[in-house]
Amino acid sequence: MLKYQILPYMKLLDGKQTAQELQQKIALEVKALQEAGGKTPHLAAILVGNDGASESYVGGKVQDCENVGFKSTLIRLPDSVSEAELLAQIHALNEDADVDGFIVQLPLPKHINAEKVTQAIAPEKDVDGFHPINVGRMAKGLPAYISATPFGILKLLEHYNINLAGKHAVVLGRSQIVGSPMSILLARNAPVGNCTVTLCHSKTQDIAKHTLQADVIVVALGIPEFLKGDMVREGAIVIDVGITRVADSSKKSGFRLVGDVHFESVAPKCDYITPVPGGVGPMTRVALLYNTLSSAKKEFYA
Ligand code: GUN
Repeated sequence: MLKYQILPYMKLLDGKQTAQELQQKIALEVKALQEAGGKTPHLAAILVGNDGASESYVGGKVQDCENVGFKSTLIRLPDSVSEAELLAQIHALNEDADVDGFIVQLPLPKHINAEKVTQAIAPEKDVDGFHPINVGRMAKGLPAYISATPFGILKLLEHYNINLAGKHAVVLGRSQIVGSPMSILLARNAPVGNCTVTLCHSKTQDIAKHTLQADVIVVALGIPEFLKGDMVREGAIVIDVGITRVADSSKKSGFRLVGDVHFESVAPKCDYITPVPGGVGPMTRVALLYNTLSSAKKEFYA
């Protein structure tokens, strides 16, 4: 904690605090829905296998549902589950009128085709926003479920009243879940948007040349402490999406969480920066709640 307190010149974008405030707002909306005779929003999650990080993410999502008054259902399937069995479970959730939205936690075992799974989820229940219909609608600026991590980042920037219009945003990483949608969303003509966007990836030559020109940098590479202080200009806004478990015998858990940004060297140059943990992670979780609430209210699909 101390490392943040000794850096008064930059502003920490506190995702943990912001997510708690937004959860309180969602809880009030749930109460209002119920009092008006509407249904209680219901999120389901399918978890295949016992990967530690996935267990922890899904556990967090279930806890969040409890916090805001949503119903939640966790469906656990063994690592050995066949693709056909998983698809059958997805079809059952598609048909279950009480379930507003559901997710299949990724990654999946190698014998299962994740793209086939993604496309089996009914678009109107795809609260992860991974289905091509939702990705396409998002890209066209139509109402759609937006992938939770980029959506959470937009909510965080909005919460801090950060105006991005006309800024140069550099996104590092072109994943389908974060980097690609983030680059599209930042360029949109929307309240948090209107950026000039550069998308860098593994074939980009001289990444520092781009990041040194950036007003906003979103780092989503999954490479611990990739972005160093000498790659960032004074006054930048830095959003760290990375969260890698690095072995640490001094911790009870046996690991610590490390972002894609070398915080100590980057933070002193920034106007705003997200910490890890407590930055993008909690915002991703609250974004999933927003998508589920939108589904319960049938905001995007009749
Ligand atoms: N694995 C890592 N992030 C995510 C996510 O946002 N959704 C799902 N379903 N799996 C993930």
